[in-house]
Amino acid sequence: MSYKILEKKQIAPQVHLMKVLAPDVAKASKAGQFIILRIDETSERIPLTIADFDAEQGYVTIIFQEMGKTTKQLAKMKDEDELQDFAGPLGTPADVRDLGTVILVGGGVGIAPVYPQVKAYREAGNKVISVIGARNKDLLILEDEMRDASDELHVATDDGSKGHHGFVTDVVKQILDSSEDVARIVVIGPPILMKVAAGMTQPYGVETIVSLNPIMIDGTGMCGGCRVSVGGETKFACVDGPEFDAHKVDFNLLMSRLALYRSEESECLQNHECTCKGDN
Ligand SMILES: Cc1cc2nc3c(=O)[nH]c(=O)nc-3n(C[C@H](O)[C@H](O)[C@H](O)COP(=O)(O)OP(=O)(O)OC[C@H]3O[C@@H](n4cnc5c(N)ncnc54)[C@H](O)[C@@H]3O)c2cc1C
Ligand code: FES
Repeated sequence: MSYKILEKKQIAPQVHLMKVLAPDVAKASKAGQFIILRIDETSERIPLTIADFDAEQGYVTIIFQEMGKTTKQLAKMKDEDELQDFAGPLGTPADVRDLGTVILVGGGVGIAPVYPQVKAYREAGNKVISVIGARNKDLLILEDEMRDASDELHVATDDGSKGHHGFVTDVVKQILDSSEDVARIVVIGPPILMKVAAGMTQPYGVETIVSLNPIMIDGTGMCGGCRVSVGGETKFACVDGPEFDAHKVDFNLLMSRLALYRSEESECLQNHECTCKGDN
């Protein structure tokens, strides 16, 4: 079976959006879940969050950043090309309920996985305050979509080129210091952002959820590749998560495990780039 790419476009430097025809996945998808895809028989399997889905038209939207060999290969694909595998939806859906006021935070390409949650929390009756951030304004994605889907949208950039000059966590702190009664905060982005956010929100005692991104291989709880430590217990992010209580996650372990294969990943990318140059 193969999965046709209905649309592929670049939405920011090195960030791409792809709509993939996968009716069964689209029908079963819920906010917070992900897919694992394989470009062809020789490619590695990579997990990507379901950024949007349309059950009626049968497609799933993914948004990815070029990181290494596979995401760079994926970025070169075009409309009408086909993917070999597109398995999902995987993972436990986000626990979306009517809680009152929730803050949804997306950092960098983490804005993509936050977007379906913004829609789901709002549909469930919450007041949704979204906070999105990136290194600079050119790297901000889905700003209009996030504004439409949220009750309030705040923007932060590291270099001050748009919105608050600084980090998304500064903005969240300002909201927590205001009179707003916040029931839950969801943070998705680079591990360091999630770690800093967890440390910042803890003294406020506000429930904080993060979506973890450890290395995943099978995505079904069989290989143990995605193990993380939460509250001192080993969990498999692909089946027990990817969402966990931020105040219980061992972020140092997560970050050290993510760095385990860095030399192999960079060797693989160099070989891929040499092959690509040879093709030209
Ligand atoms: C549940 C989940 C959801 C994700 N959602 C998104 C998303 O929506 N958009 C997005 O841009 N990225 C997402 N990622 C990260 C994405 O899977 C990696 O960027 C991708 O696998 C990199 O592969 P590569 O060959 O291009 O790069 P490589 O050079 O192989 O790796 C670059 C970095 O990507 C990470 N990575 C590599 N292989 C894997 C793997 N098998 N599983 C997880 N991480 C890996 C590591 O941090 C690694 O250092 C998600 C990861 C997880 C676990
Ligand atoms: S990816 Fe293999 S157990 Fe989670």
